Formats: sequence, C-alpha cells, structure tokens
Amino acid sequence: MPSRRGPVAVLALLAVLVTVLATLTTPAAAAASTLNQLAQAQGKYFGSATDNPELSDSAYAAILGGGEFGSTTPGNSMKWDATEPQQNQFSYAQGDAVVDFADAHDMMVRAHTLVWHNQLPNWLTSGNWSATQLTSILQNHIANVAGHYKGEVYSWDVVNEPFNEDGTYRSDLWYNTLGSGYIATALRAARAADPNAKLYINDYNTEGSGAKSDAMYNLVKSLKAQGVPIDGVGFQAHLAVQYGFPSDMQANLQRFADLGVDVAITELDVRMELPADSAKVATQATYYADVTKACMAVARCVGITIWDYTDKYSWVPGTFSGQGSALPWDENLNKKPSVYDAIATALGGSGDGGGGGTANCEVAYSTNDWGSGFTANITVTNQGPAISGWTLKYSYAGDQRLSQGWSGTWSQSGKDVTVTDAGWNGTLATGASTSIGANFAYSGSNTAPTAFTLNGTTCD
Ligand code: XIL
Repeated sequence: MPSRRGPVAVLALLAVLVTVLATLTTPAAAAASTLNQLAQAQGKYFGSATDNPELSDSAYAAILGGGEFGSTTPGNSMKWDATEPQQNQFSYAQGDAVVDFADAHDMMVRAHTLVWHNQLPNWLTSGNWSATQLTSILQNHIANVAGHYKGEVYSWDVVNEPFNEDGTYRSDLWYNTLGSGYIATALRAARAADPNAKLYINDYNTEGSGAKSDAMYNLVKSLKAQGVPIDGVGFQAHLAVQYGFPSDMQANLQRFADLGVDVAITELDVRMELPADSAKVATQATYYADVTKACMAVARCVGITIWDYTDKYSWVPGTFSGQGSALPWDENLNKKPSVYDAIATALGGSGDGGGGGTANCEVAYSTNDWGSGFTANITVTNQGPAISGWTLKYSYAGDQRLSQGWSGTWSQSGKDVTVTDAGWNGTLATGASTSIGANFAYSGSNTAPTAFTLNGTTCD
C-alpha cells in the first residue's frame, strides 16, 4: 500500500478525526435552557421573588442571578412600612438593593406594592384621617415611591388584594375612608409618577372563575371604560395541593386579556401539608405545569413569577401552619427534578431532569473490559450543597447494552443511561462520594462516556 498521501487526503483524514473527536466529546444532551430562556423563547419571562436578607446568602444569590430568572419582585422592601415608615420620611435602601441586584444580573423588577391593607406603618393606621387627608397621603406616597423608581422597574402592583372572597370590596383603611375610588386615584398617581411602568392590580384566588374573579373583571372593565390607567392584572397563584386546581385558569386569564390588559402570574407557589410525599409532589408538579401552560397559552400573559424559588426562604411555613415544600427548589437549594422538569416541559423545554447549570459534581468512570462486555465503575462526588436523592445520566456512543447494575436503579433507553440512588446512598453531603457499577455487553468499540449530569446539572 502506498504510504504517502496528498495534502487533500491528509486534510480529509483530519476532518474525519475532528468529527470523531467532536462526536465523542459532545455532551449527550445539550445543556438545557434555563426557565427564563425557555419562557423568553415564547416572548415571556420567568421570575422569582426575593427578599433583602436572602441576598447575603451567596449560594442563594448565585442561583437567583444565575440565569434561571429574568425578573424579580421584592417580597417586602417596597411595601409601605418599608418605604415610608414615618410620615413623609422615605427609605429606599432595601428596595434599591433589590433593584441593584436585578440590574447587575440582567433581570427586570416587578415592583410590589403601593396600596395594600397589610404591612402599613402605625402612623398611617392609627391616624384618624379624613378622606381629603388620606387621598393626599396616598398621592404623596405614590409620587415619592414610584417617582424614586421611575424608569427602573418594569411594572408596579399599584393596588394589592382589594377584594373579599365573595367579590365585595375588602373593608380596610382605603375602602372605608375613600370608597372604591381609591383604586383609580392610586392608578392615576402611579401613571403620573412613572409613565412607563406597567400598572397592575394584583390579587389571590382570582386565578380561576368565581365571584372574586368576576369582581376583579368588572372592576378592570369599568376602569378601562373610564379611561383610568390600568395595564395589567396580576394573579398571585398561591395554590395548595389539598384545595384543588383553580377551574378554567386559561379561559379566565383570556377573558381579562380580552379587556385589553396584560395578565401575569405574580406570586406562584404550591404548598402542601407536611410531610411531603411522592403523591403530593406529583400533584404539585402538575399544578406548576398547568399554571405555566395556562400562561403560555394566553398571548397577553407576559410572564410567571414564583414567590421565591427555594423552600429555604418560602413564606409558607411561617404563614400556613404545618404546610410547606411549596417551591421548585428545596431548602438545600437543590432543584426538585420532577417539579422543575414539569415547569421546563410546560415552557417548551426538554425536561431533562433539572436543566443545565454550573458543575456541582464530579464523576470518575473506569471499566474492566473483556472484549464483548465490561464492568463500568462510577464514583460520583457531590461538590454542591447536600442532596437527598440523586439521578445520574450519561450516554454511550456505541451499542453498549445494560445487563445488570448495582448500588442504584439502572435503566437504559437507546444510548441513554439513567441511574437513581439506591435509597441508602441517596443522601450525599457536600464532598461525599458514592460508588456504583453495572455490567454491559457490547460489540465494536467501547468508548467511555464524557458527559454526566447529576440531578440535571453537568458534572466535571
Ligand atoms: C409576604 C412576604 O413574602 C412575607 O415575607 C411577609 O411576611 C408577608 O408578605 N401576597 C402578597 C405578598 O401580595 O406581598 C405577600 O408577601 C404574600 C401574599
């Protein structure tokens, strides 16, 4: 055989080699998109609320600002007690910190909230105000607070929770002193203070059809008819698996959109009675998926915000005794794969077990190969926060076929191998390892896999 090759042949050979190498080193599944990337692909955002104390938790902040979320809402720091603790003395440091965080991480801010019945300072609730006095207090507050954040926020929840469950107006300082006209007063003041912010009315238990939702619908319709500035309706969506899913959510969102306003899911969480179990978590995952699908199906649903992303900082246990586990990330800041996947899939993603992200695991892979079969020995080391339960995924390039695995539940679909923990080795503290193995048959070549994910996160 002639051993000399012309330059073209050498180049062709090189090209083949490069292709083979690329094939071997390409991760089996391309890194999944983040929730916000998936939402953005549909012209929407996916966001998470936050709160100031949490921002000093660096592991928490890394995830909040790491690309999963395109928007944030300050859970407390723009409320009346935080921004005007004494009459006409304004305090913006906490709210500014959230805006600064959002700016630094390319996130929008849904500002929350200007007029509410809760978290009002004593000077306001204990004053015995006339309607004239209270109107000017309200206008002054909005002019200052929305003025301070002018141009910095995407939207304002101008009025929060105006209705009772039966659709009557909530009896509170505002309604009792000013009647329902406080709503139009607040919206006009907000428009004057920040003409580009989207102005919302926000409430809970309005996600599905019903008396409260009808009351909101009639209010928005009448505000529009009067030319009062209103751009959107927020649906908090604080759901609970034990109360069922709100009926007709998509149709309900659509009827509001048909009034000529945006709609948004603003405070989504899905709580359950503790302890969590697999049936409750499965129901929870469907609720998250169904809310997401409803928003995706309505053109004017602009996005979804979850009421913080991790159980570590959820408001649920402190408010609803004995309930919790309401968010897609657990209290160790790990994604709950089934919940996260349900959202990602409803957003149009592949739902591959938790998406891409920074490596928080290391995998050592070795084989004992006898030509027609081999034993694969895998040691997984958790380099992220502690986990309780794991799924490892990787793929083979050839025809390797699983015959038997141990120290985990092994399965194979085509070239893709999935191993879940065996129970006893499910909990891995930071830095902890576990070793697993399996026998495979093969013919042809037996190239080692190069890309592994643990709970959806790419490993080194
Ligand atoms: C909650 C906060 O998350 C808590 O930290 C705070 O103690 C109470 O308020 N509906 C709303 C939010 O509109 O402002 C509430 O936020 C949750 C219910």
